[in-house]
Amino acid sequence: MNILLLGSGGREHAIAYKIAQSPQCGQLFIAPGNAGTEGLGENVKLDIMDFEAVGQFALTHRVEMLVVGPEAPLVGGIADYFASQATLKNIMVIGPSKQGAMLEGSKDYAKAFMQRHNIPTARYRTFTVDTLAEGEKFLESLEAPYVLKADGLAAGKGVLIEDDLATAKAHLREMLEDRKFGDASASVVIEEYLSGIEMSVFVLTDGSHYLLLPSAKDYKRIGEGDTGLNTGGMGSVSPVPFADKAFMKKVEDRIVKPTVRGLREEKIPYCGFIFIGLMCCGIGTEDASPYVIEYNVRMGDPETESVFPRIKSDVVALFENAAHGDLDGCKIEVDSRSAACVMMVAKGYPESYPKGDAISLGEDAEGVTLFHCGTKRDGEGRLVTAGGRVICATALANSLPEALLKSYNRCQTVEWDGKYQRRDIGQDLLKLIQEG
Ligand code: AMP
Ligand code: GLY
Repeated sequence: MNILLLGSGGREHAIAYKIAQSPQCGQLFIAPGNAGTEGLGENVKLDIMDFEAVGQFALTHRVEMLVVGPEAPLVGGIADYFASQATLKNIMVIGPSKQGAMLEGSKDYAKAFMQRHNIPTARYRTFTVDTLAEGEKFLESLEAPYVLKADGLAAGKGVLIEDDLATAKAHLREMLEDRKFGDASASVVIEEYLSGIEMSVFVLTDGSHYLLLPSAKDYKRIGEGDTGLNTGGMGSVSPVPFADKAFMKKVEDRIVKPTVRGLREEKIPYCGFIFIGLMCCGIGTEDASPYVIEYNVRMGDPETESVFPRIKSDVVALFENAAHGDLDGCKIEVDSRSAACVMMVAKGYPESYPKGDAISLGEDAEGVTLFHCGTKRDGEGRLVTAGGRVICATALANSLPEALLKSYNRCQTVEWDGKYQRRDIGQDLLKLIQEG
């Protein structure tokens, strides 16, 4: 079958890499793709927010499956658009309805959903400009640090964590009165601070049943030791050593099952991924407990780059089962090895950075895959940087330290002016293992 994948990052390169391995995959189109996806299918210039154009392309090219990488088209309702058109409604769409995508599109909606279904999450309240004074009072009732979240999508920048009460109140005012994050901060969720270790859990669901995909941990800050500005993600590892069977059972029983049951009970059409961002509290104790920090309605980036290479099953077959409501009884085969992904970024990222620098990829290494993020071919066909996160190296090995070593060795041979990477991906987890 012909498949159209939307997106242009490392996540999409990793998804394309698995799709292309499927015997069921006919022509693979990636819109708009990057210089890495070029080798796996045909990159097509489409505005992925122009649903009519995407639909027209799908028709002309006899696409039978649409896989949506990023959240924006989902929150914008691309699945509903396809379902509403007589000529498109038989195309399988891997990605939830607009209503399902609200789990990511609105923090308030997600928190209310969790509350309705008794899913563990931080205590919270939501405020608007009309209830600003109450919001300030609520802040006073909490202990530092204070967590303020713009309700809507804010390109990953809408969460502020502040130690000082007066500054937190000032932020609240700026978010609500001055629309610090535009319309995204017309409502603000204030919640209790949870202290623990974050991890990312991934689920593929047909809206009634689910498969648990490998879980991962990502590294969000630009600086080593988790310091400095937030980024899209500077690396990831899968599996997460502390998330053993007992802990993952808690995650499934307390979070995954009630989430999928909630979708079904509320009749929210949902065929696609759920990315559950967890705060794991009390790790190392008997009371280790997962809490939901956020839902996303897509795969994570760069988590996908360590999660997808570990999936041994035919992902297209799994997607097909999901689209047909047939995930019940499906099994997923996962590589027991560890994956480590190290992201190489442009100098200056996540603030301003140059583009168009020539990249030299170096030599291939056994067991290591390079996934392209912000890359393209320039007018002369040279591979050049085209984004902040440029390229990442994912290695599979029998242990996490080995995987990290292989990935770092491969990174050394990739070159361009101003390349930067964190040198401590996975080190926190290795330390946890050593401490036993
Ligand atoms: P979010 O966009 O909701 O994932 O939040 C961004 C980041 O803020 C998360 O990855 C956490 O590191 C942090 N964060 C969000 N909510 C909380 C919370 N309630 N307690 C502690 N840290 C949080
Ligand atoms: N790595 C976090 C995200 O994709 O949102």
